[in-house]
Amino acid sequence: MYLAIMQIYYFAVLAGLADWATAHIPHYPRAQEGTCKKTTVAILGGGVAGITAAQALSNASVHDFAIIEYRDTLGGRAWHEPFGKNKDGKPYIIEMGANWVQGLGNPGGPQNPIWELAQKYNLKTHYSNYDNVSTYNQHGYSDYSHLLDESAAATDIASAKAGEILRNNLQDQTAQTGLALGGWNPKKHDMEAQASNFSPLESSLVFGMASTNFTSNTFSDHDNFVFDQRGFNTIFLSEAATFLKKDDPRVHLNTQVVDIAYSDEGVTIHNKDGSCITAAYAVCTFSLGVLQNNAWKQTAIQKFAMGTYTKIFMQFNETFWPENTQYFLYADPLQRGWYPIFQSLSMPEFIPESNILFVTVTNELAWRAERQSDEHTRGEIMDVLRKMFPEKTIPEPTAFLYPRWSTEPWAYGSYSNWPPATSLEEHENLRANTGRLWFAGEATSPTYFGFLQGAWYEGRDAGRQIAAIMQNRCVHVNSTKLRECGPRRHYAILHGTSPFKDYAAVNGWGGNSFLDTNPE
Ligand SMILES: Cc1cc2nc3c(=O)[nH]c(=O)nc-3n(C[C@H](O)[C@H](O)[C@H](O)COP(=O)(O)OP(=O)(O)OC[C@H]3O[C@@H](n4cnc5c(N)ncnc54)[C@H](O)[C@@H]3O)c2cc1C
Ligand SMILES: *[C@@H]1O[C@H](CO)[C@@H](O)[C@H](O)[C@H]1NC(C)=O
Ligand SMILES: *[C@@H]1O[C@H](CO)[C@@H](O)[C@H](O)[C@H]1NC(C)=O
Ligand SMILES: *[C@@H]1O[C@H](CO)[C@@H](O)[C@H](O)[C@H]1NC(C)=O
Ligand SMILES: *[C@@H]1O[C@H](CO)[C@@H](O)[C@H](O)[C@H]1NC(C)=O
Ligand SMILES: *[C@@H]1O[C@H](CO)[C@@H](O)[C@H](O)[C@H]1NC(C)=O
Repeated sequence: MYLAIMQIYYFAVLAGLADWATAHIPHYPRAQEGTCKKTTVAILGGGVAGITAAQALSNASVHDFAIIEYRDTLGGRAWHEPFGKNKDGKPYIIEMGANWVQGLGNPGGPQNPIWELAQKYNLKTHYSNYDNVSTYNQHGYSDYSHLLDESAAATDIASAKAGEILRNNLQDQTAQTGLALGGWNPKKHDMEAQASNFSPLESSLVFGMASTNFTSNTFSDHDNFVFDQRGFNTIFLSEAATFLKKDDPRVHLNTQVVDIAYSDEGVTIHNKDGSCITAAYAVCTFSLGVLQNNAWKQTAIQKFAMGTYTKIFMQFNETFWPENTQYFLYADPLQRGWYPIFQSLSMPEFIPESNILFVTVTNELAWRAERQSDEHTRGEIMDVLRKMFPEKTIPEPTAFLYPRWSTEPWAYGSYSNWPPATSLEEHENLRANTGRLWFAGEATSPTYFGFLQGAWYEGRDAGRQIAAIMQNRCVHVNSTKLRECGPRRHYAILHGTSPFKDYAAVNGWGGNSFLDTNPE
């Protein structure tokens, strides 16, 4: 059984490129190749990575590009919606997607590019204090905050173990194993302990910890929560406006790509409306979920997972929960992850008097909630709130809204998660270009996957690389460190683990310190 699976996988890797060409035969009207619009670089998707790729091209004086975007706006998963209403009857703006600037920057040290943009455009944010949490169970308030401290201490030990594994080229473990090695191994029925660490246990120990390290050690371990009423994406749209005109003809909104064909000469993109574009190069920034659902780049991507993180927003006619606390943790007696974490927007420092509360569910429980009707989900949450605050009479919400990330055809999930028992090499294959088609986005970042900064760096890198190739600026030297640009490495044969020297800039690693010592 095991062998058979390995063989299929190995075969698929060898078949890699051929697979690509035959993938996905569309059932949409299809223009003749000769009638396609021509551009030099096609940028598929207008989220953070797409915008940044376009800016990097502009910065390198490549102005002939086209951005093709499914939605009616740029910004991608930095997505907000109007919600509820204020005293004047105007809706508030809430973030369906990204909500924090994660890792700000140290004085004099490197700054998170997202934080730099937040400052440049005066984005309204506030320090997100994870210690400012009250704990509850099915009988109401129950102080188990010491369990949060214990779990945090175990996480530190797990992180150090992860560093040893990475450095010494050892076998990766699950996050759960790492926590157990760190002394955190709660009993199945100890639901307060189960609630105190609700991170996905089935992800990679090494790569999860490395990514956390990159963000918190390189920048800072401070996260700021965004509640700007222009929406988080205002910083990306404003930055786009520095190099794109209003209604720039290079931006094609409301356009769904249904097929991508590539060769060594160029890339042809077919859209659902029957139009097509030929380009000398293309950068595909679609989410891992979109790639997996469309049978594009099959081989390298199926192993990586798309996690779902669903925020469910409620507005009430009053703030019946403690007004000065940011987080409320709930331990359900039966099910880990059952509406586990509530957040208040009604805090004086956030959006006072908004009476908005939201609860987050992830993965299995997010998929479940996303399949349910609003009414069903609202009923379940009201039950939880009545358990948490038994002394209160809790009114029905006056507004209720949540996204269905797992079925949005332009995302198919929230952000990528790195499963255990994968390697740097497998991730590089996800990141590798195939001919003139490049890949960028949150998921291709080995160091900041899952974060806005991952999308930002990967978009910039793809834009820079393509510009450098076009302008013959690539220096190929034998040392990987000096290989400034050129096609990305694809590993035809995968090894279980990767030597430490491979965690280098050429593979999208390094450049910042994430372990105590720098690779190379
Ligand atoms: C609920 C949630 C919470 C998050 N919280 C945070 C956070 O707090 N902090 C943080 O740093 N990050 C957070 N993230 C992650 C962050 O949002 C992403 O890392 C980042 O926005 C990804 O940018 P991207 O450009 O790689 O991809 P995307 O934003 O997905 O951009 C890809 C673009 O391609 C378009 N597209 C897709 N398919 C097609 C098609 N077939 N044809 C044409 N266009 C298409 C999409 O519409 C989209 O605009 C969160 C994400 C979610 C969903
Ligand atoms: C493009 O150049 C501007 C001005 O120097 C800079 O602020 C921006 O970060 C650059 N963008 C990218 C993606 O490199
Ligand atoms: C959260 O912080 C506020 C002050 O900003 C404080 O009044 C409140 O007691 C804190 N709550 C918890 C649970 O720590
Ligand atoms: C994370 O950083 C800590 C030091 O802050 C280090 O001990 C550990 O090895 C690092 N782990 C990984 C996986 O990078
Ligand atoms: C909110 O509504 C409930 C009834 O649903 C009511 O009892 C309560 O007084 C209202 N609160 C305010 C502040 O109006
Ligand atoms: C690069 O490596 C090849 C093969 O190992 C060798 O023949 C060549 O001389 C090297 N070039 C440089 C510039 O070191």
